[in-house]
Amino acid sequence: MPSPREAKEHLQNAMEEAVASVNRALDRLMPQTELAEARLFEAMRYGVLNGGKRLRPFLVMESANLFNVDPVYARRVAAAVEMVHSYSLIHDDLPSMDNAALRRGKPTTHKAFDDATAVLAGDALLTLAFEVLGDQETHGDPRVRIDLVCTLAKAAGPHGMLGGQMLDLIGEKQEFDVGTISRLQRMKTGMLIAFACEAGAILGKSGEPQRKALRNYAYDLGLAFQVTDDILDVEADPQDTGKDSGADAKAGKSTFVSTLGKDNARMRANMLVEQAKSHLSIFGERADMLRDVADYVLQRRA
Ligand code: IPE
Ligand code: IPE
Ligand code: MG
Ligand code: MG
Ligand code: MG
Repeated sequence: MPSPREAKEHLQNAMEEAVASVNRALDRLMPQTELAEARLFEAMRYGVLNGGKRLRPFLVMESANLFNVDPVYARRVAAAVEMVHSYSLIHDDLPSMDNAALRRGKPTTHKAFDDATAVLAGDALLTLAFEVLGDQETHGDPRVRIDLVCTLAKAAGPHGMLGGQMLDLIGEKQEFDVGTISRLQRMKTGMLIAFACEAGAILGKSGEPQRKALRNYAYDLGLAFQVTDDILDVEADPQDTGKDSGADAKAGKSTFVSTLGKDNARMRANMLVEQAKSHLSIFGERADMLRDVADYVLQRRA
C-alpha cells in the first residue's frame, strides 16, 4: 500500500496530467477566430482557459477509467463539463449575482470585457457543451450520447445547479435551516460534480449498481466540496484561491459556516468525505484515486 505521501504525489501528478490534457481539448474545441464576432470567442476562452483546478474533468477521466473507456471520449466529456462549470462561474460573478471582481487570480470576465459579453460568453459555453456531447466523436452509440445530454441537462438545469443558484440568492435575504442549506448546496455544486462522476459509467455502459455508487459518492463529495469552499471564503488567502475572501458574509449568504460555525462545518465536511468514500467499495482498489481525491477536497487550500 502506498504511504499517504506517495498517494498525494500520485494524485497530484494525475491531476496535473488531466489539467494539461483537458486544456488541450478545450483549446481545440474553442479555436481563436478572425471573424467579426471574435470578441465572443475571446471572452469564452478567457473564462475557461484561465486556470482553475479542473476537478470536474478529473472526476470524468477517473470514473471513465473504472470502465476502460477510450480516453478520447472521456476527454471530450471532461471538456464539456468544464465549459458548463466555467459558464456558471462567469454568470455567478456578474454584478447582478455575486458581484465578484477576481476569479482564478485574474479580473472576472465581465471586468475584463463587459457585462453583456460575459452573459453571451456564458450562454455560448453552455450551448457548446451540449453540441460537444451530441457529436458522434464523443461516443459511437447515440443512446450513450442522449444519456449524456439528458443527464447533464438535469444536473445543470432548474432541478439542479440553477435551482441551487436561485436558492443561494434567496438565502441572502432569508435565513435557511441546515436542511435547506444542504439542499441548496447539493443542487448548486453537487449535481454537476455528480454528473462528472456518473459520466464515466454512462460512457462505459456500466450496470446500474456501479452508476448509482458513483452518483452517491459524488453527491456527498460535492456537498463536502461546497462546505470547504464556504470555509475557504472565511479563512483562505486570495493568493491561493484566486478570488476575494469574505464575499459570502458580505453578501449575507446562508452557508454551513454562517449557520453552524467554521468548526462544525469542517466536522460535517469530514463526515461527508468518509461517507463519500464508503460508496466506492463496489470498485475495490480500482477506485483508490477517487478515494484520494475525496481526501484532497478536505485538505485543499485553493
Ligand atoms: C468554485 O469551483 C465554485 C464552486 C462550485 C464552489 P472550483 O473551486 O472548482 O473553481 P475552479 O474551477 O477551480 O476555479
Ligand atoms: C458557485 O458558488 C456555484 C456555481 C457557480 C454554480 P459560489 O458563489 O460559492 O462560488 P465562488 O465562491 O464564487 O467560487
Ligand atoms: Mg454564488
Ligand atoms: Mg460566487
Ligand atoms: Mg463560494
